[in-house]
Amino acid sequence: MTTVAVRCLQRCLAPRLPAMGQRLAHETRLRMFSVAKRSRSSLSIAPSVLRHPRSSPSCARSCASHVSEVDIDIDRVAYGFMASQVLFAGLELNIFDHISDHADDTGGLSIERLHSLTGVTAPRLQTLVTALTAIHALRLGPDGYSLSPSTRKFLVSSARHFYGDYLRLQMGQQFYERMGALPKVTMTGEAPDYAEWFSNPEVADQYTRAQHNGSMATAKQFLKLVDLAETKSILDIGGGSGAFTITLCRALPELTATVLELPEVCKTGEGFVAAEKPEVADRVTFVRGSCLDAWPVELKDGHDVVLTSYVSGSIPASAIRVLYERAFERLRPGGMLVVHDFMVDDSLQGPELAALWAAQHVTVNAEGVGLAPYIVKEAMQGVGFTELRHMEMIKGMTKLVIGHKPVA
Ligand SMILES: C[S@@+](CC[C@H](N)C(=O)[O-])C[C@H]1O[C@@H](n2cnc3c(N)ncnc32)[C@H](O)[C@@H]1O
Repeated sequence: MTTVAVRCLQRCLAPRLPAMGQRLAHETRLRMFSVAKRSRSSLSIAPSVLRHPRSSPSCARSCASHVSEVDIDIDRVAYGFMASQVLFAGLELNIFDHISDHADDTGGLSIERLHSLTGVTAPRLQTLVTALTAIHALRLGPDGYSLSPSTRKFLVSSARHFYGDYLRLQMGQQFYERMGALPKVTMTGEAPDYAEWFSNPEVADQYTRAQHNGSMATAKQFLKLVDLAETKSILDIGGGSGAFTITLCRALPELTATVLELPEVCKTGEGFVAAEKPEVADRVTFVRGSCLDAWPVELKDGHDVVLTSYVSGSIPASAIRVLYERAFERLRPGGMLVVHDFMVDDSLQGPELAALWAAQHVTVNAEGVGLAPYIVKEAMQGVGFTELRHMEMIKGMTKLVIGHKPVA
């Protein structure tokens, strides 16, 4: 997810998460307890992964002190999917690019011009453009249609902060359909995992390209938050397109990086790396494999940093601790594990986009758990990491948890 994505999603798209009243929140916690209890016995999930945060001092404080009284906007939530598809359709038809390219002289573009530029001459184009206007992506003035400031900044393909490909290709064409299975998957637990989903080369390639469009800005933000000045070698587990690795290698001339990824994803990632200057490309290696299997020897050990970005929430809950254990083994003493992912607060009351993203991941990782800092910290602590801390990364959506392998 991009740093900028959250702003636009919050403003234009994301329906309001139901804010629970005190009674509902209490009932939900009770339900969570019983689900956790059942899950532990049937799935052998490590108890630490699902221990309720009420037992953690930070949550005991925040849960008790803050119960939201905001009510659900039912229509906005229930009909929010229509707004999402209207936006994706606008991207698919290049409506924002057309207005950006052709509206400069007049300040606006008529529906007739849009008919001819999109090749859609039926009245339904007006219906779509009206809906885009109603959700404030477009503005209608005396000279025709123009772009809203956020649309111009984030949804025009030539814009510096463009992430429309991420929205169109991954949200619109892939996750949207998966998300339709949420009720069924929640009840049955039947869903593909990432390895199965990505065994189709086209799916893996499209997802990974879209992720690249989303992760490059996030990786820059990461560089600002985490001190990597002394880092010479990094292991990027589930590194996808290599967005983080590439960004770090561009910024740190002495850094070498190894990415562990599923085979089909590696192919796309290697393409992105090959497009870099040789002084960057030569320092990046992709290794094919699953982080759920024994880690290949090519990953080597003694690394300064192990990074996992959006992986802990993409694997079964029972595997999280194993993942961190393997990371611990591959780090030098004093080395650092950095976990980046969608995480709600320890209070389990939001932020809403972090919670919604976790719900979406259920559809490709039915045995996974929606993350919060206490879950990640407990698993890291359990395998020996110390000096644990967490911070927000993408506002309202993702967090970083950092721990160190003790020196002695
Ligand atoms: C949302 S993407 C994030 C990619 C990258 N870390 C980033 O932040 O841009 C999640 C990645 O986790 C990878 N992944 C999921 N399960 C995996 C597994 N068992 N082994 C290795 N990688 C896995 C997926 O292939 C995918 O590229």
